[in-house]
Amino acid sequence: MSKSAELKQKLKDLNLEYAKIKDLPPAERADFGKKINQQKQDLMRQIAAAEDAELDTTVAALDITAPFAVNGTPPSLLGAEQGSRHPLMVELDRVTSIYQNMGFDIVESKQLDDEFHMFDSLNFAKGHPARDGYDSFRTEEGFIPPAHTSTMQHRVLKQFKPKLAEGKTIAVVVPGRVYRNEDVDATHEHTFYQCEGVYVSEDCTMGNMLAILREFFESYYGQKLNIKTQPGYFPFTEPSLEFLIEKPKSLGGKGDGWLEMLGCGMIHPNVLKMAGIDPHKYQGFAWGGGIDRLVMLRYGLNDVRYFESAKLDFLKELAC
Ligand code: DAH
Repeated sequence: MSKSAELKQKLKDLNLEYAKIKDLPPAERADFGKKINQQKQDLMRQIAAAEDAELDTTVAALDITAPFAVNGTPPSLLGAEQGSRHPLMVELDRVTSIYQNMGFDIVESKQLDDEFHMFDSLNFAKGHPARDGYDSFRTEEGFIPPAHTSTMQHRVLKQFKPKLAEGKTIAVVVPGRVYRNEDVDATHEHTFYQCEGVYVSEDCTMGNMLAILREFFESYYGQKLNIKTQPGYFPFTEPSLEFLIEKPKSLGGKGDGWLEMLGCGMIHPNVLKMAGIDPHKYQGFAWGGGIDRLVMLRYGLNDVRYFESAKLDFLKELAC
């Protein structure tokens, strides 16, 4: 049994302990519950670490240059066509390289995360209705497939904090796959991609953020754009904004349509504090938005479901 499987078994056993609470004298219940919760948190952290380590060894053992053959017959002899990267992955590279050219570091998000990174570290109050707004999935063990790439903010702030002490800025972009329990239709998918940006320095402003975002969108669409913002609400930014671009004529716009491309704002002091950054000395901004939507506009696509559909006609048309 792998280390993570062993730990998961322990977690299952621990979950059974909760049933004992009701048989305890009332005065002992709170302490007992606290103790189990603490053990549960510890176990979940150990499971995440064990899974990361196991993943690393699997990847190291994979030889991606090995010749590939279907049932022993090479594709050339089967008359099979050559495959290509998924169009979204190609676009994701395009997106990250624009930010890299602006000096941003790139960190990938996790596919499985936890309550702390999904909500607590982002200043969502316990029991706050904003938590429900994210329609997040949960595993039986209580892990969360992330519903946004903001789950990485706390880690990025902690990891890059030493730069601030050297008088440098934190400038990081996080692409990643996210999951929501959505009713699927042409504009909503349960699985999609987002890209998050995090920037912290002693004196950055909202003006700097808008300049970066304008630069990004104009580079990605290869043309000048009209942009605007409107007030938004996110627990992890204050103030919070929604960022819109006017749909360009060359991409089917009729001069009257504004498209909401992402959420953004100045990082809430509590989020900085939780990562050990002094909000009186430093300030930052962050943003996050969907990649699928960005790509759909670029190529005039009208159904987000194609991306996860494995429809070969669609994939071939967009493949490069
Ligand atoms: N995570 C938000 C969402 O998925 C988007 C977002 C809003 C990200 C504001 C940010 C931000 O970093 O500052 O709805």
